[in-house]
Amino acid sequence: MDRRFDILVIGSGAAGLTAALHLAEYRRVAVIAKGPLSDGATGWAQGGIAAVLEEGDSFEAHVEDTMVAGAGLNDRHVVEHVVGAAPAAIQRLIELGVPFAEEGGALHLTREGGHSHRRIVHVADATGWAVQKALERAAAANPNIILLPDMVAVDLITGRHQDRFSTDGTVHGLYAYSRATRRVETLTARATILATGGAGRVYLYSTAPRGATGDGIAMAWRAGCRVSNMEMMQFHPTCLYSLELKNFLITEAVRGEGGILKHPLTGHRFMPDYDERAELAPRDVVARAIDNEIKRDGLDYVHLDISHRDPGFVRAHFPNIHEKLIGLGIDMTREPIPVVPAQHYTCGGVVVDLCGRTDAPGLYAAGEVTESGLHGANRLASNSLLECLVFGEAAARDILERWDKLPPLVRVREWDESRVTDSDEEVVIAQTWGEIRRFMWNYVGIVRTTKRLQRAKRRIDMLRQEVTDYYAHFRVTPDLIELRNLVEVADLIIRSALARRESRGLHFTRDWQRTLAHARDTVLVP
Ligand code: FAD
Ligand code: SIN
Repeated sequence: MDRRFDILVIGSGAAGLTAALHLAEYRRVAVIAKGPLSDGATGWAQGGIAAVLEEGDSFEAHVEDTMVAGAGLNDRHVVEHVVGAAPAAIQRLIELGVPFAEEGGALHLTREGGHSHRRIVHVADATGWAVQKALERAAAANPNIILLPDMVAVDLITGRHQDRFSTDGTVHGLYAYSRATRRVETLTARATILATGGAGRVYLYSTAPRGATGDGIAMAWRAGCRVSNMEMMQFHPTCLYSLELKNFLITEAVRGEGGILKHPLTGHRFMPDYDERAELAPRDVVARAIDNEIKRDGLDYVHLDISHRDPGFVRAHFPNIHEKLIGLGIDMTREPIPVVPAQHYTCGGVVVDLCGRTDAPGLYAAGEVTESGLHGANRLASNSLLECLVFGEAAARDILERWDKLPPLVRVREWDESRVTDSDEEVVIAQTWGEIRRFMWNYVGIVRTTKRLQRAKRRIDMLRQEVTDYYAHFRVTPDLIELRNLVEVADLIIRSALARRESRGLHFTRDWQRTLAHARDTVLVP
């Protein structure tokens, strides 16, 4: 089936739907998602969105906090642009019906690590769900937006897929596997926006949803785009430790509202031993401190304790977390919560400019899939949804303004399945996936060494060969598509980590502990 659109958006989270809503004022847009529309990380966001919204706070302070958290690797110009655009982005969400918490007639602002001021707007402790649903409602009501869930993008279409083969790197759309027909369909467009989210599932423990397999980063890389700072993987300090419930985040706002980290055996409050900002130090600092406590004393977890605060306050601010924990037999108003660090956010990604343009003509990107210069070596809490909103809109505006200059629709070849068969050894996929996630956690985790990174590199080289061979022989399935991307992204992370000969932000290596005077991006060129 050949489907032609003005613009294709891959991803239905905050970045993708924001872009689609702006584009749909003038053009016909298709938005694809690899599962249900709400299944990205956006719906899972808890804490909120950062913006300067009250007297006493300033754009300069938000910029400075972002630069400090990012260990100076951020692009100050980009940071200033995004921070300056934040209040208007919040206002648009309010107009779309997002019911941000209020207090005394004004927005209630909470606080998170690394912020020198209260500046996080939120919807209790489930901000992302409210944002996702408001964007989805608006998109579903717009006749210019076609929502296509259950379509798994396989690869971007470039010159080599045209009827007349060419080496031109212009992107003309994508091949996508339909879960309904179990066939790969051809979708073409004048412009394509990647809004596919992060790659957290490359790690064994991650707060990210199941679909965060770095598909967009891998597809853009294969299409010839640069990727940058892939070694900067963010680990959130406080993921629930539970044998029953994996990957459940305990929002940083718990610490923002007074939560204290304690040694589970001695009850000692350990964060002041590591940093004067204690529990509100940036995430990389807190995650490393917890990692150190756990490894030094052979612990399974540490404690996060907010039981000293009024129970009514705790229940009102964290209703969803409270309820979830009660279901597991933990009452956070009376006892501490067991927590461990887990992968949380992909700071690196596809290189984009302020308009969301990538290196490939016709291809844009926005949100967690990108490296825009905003986050540097460590993302400041609640700056991610903000980036999705600002860059989703920027990409849409650029496409609309440059419409006449965008490449025309071309005739491309259909997906060729003539040389593949159905797999007779699916077990390879689960086995390889498990192997990658385990060695990435153990060798490319919170604290790194060159030796461990080299071990990881040898393993990924071997697995890449196996997966490439498998891919060449068998029909694609969603699991195989994701595995192929996971291998690609793991390789990019390891190569980037090996290339950085210093410790900065999220990249801490015992072999290069000094931070160099000049901050430089790690840029990989295909
Ligand atoms: P997502 O929302 O992840 O959407 C990705 C989309 O791409 C999905 O629709 C998916 O189906 C689609 N997709 C992916 N691959 C393919 C493919 N191959 N084919 C077709 N479609 C594909 N940030 C904050 O700023 N504040 C917070 O409070 C906050 N809390 C968080 C809590 C948790 C638990 C997590 C995991 C993250 C949190 N973050 C927070 C980070 C933030 O939620 C994400 O960075 C952000 O939502 C990413 O949005 P996105 O639009 O880029 O991608
Ligand atoms: C959280 O609520 O702790 C997550 C916030 C974020 O990732 O920005």
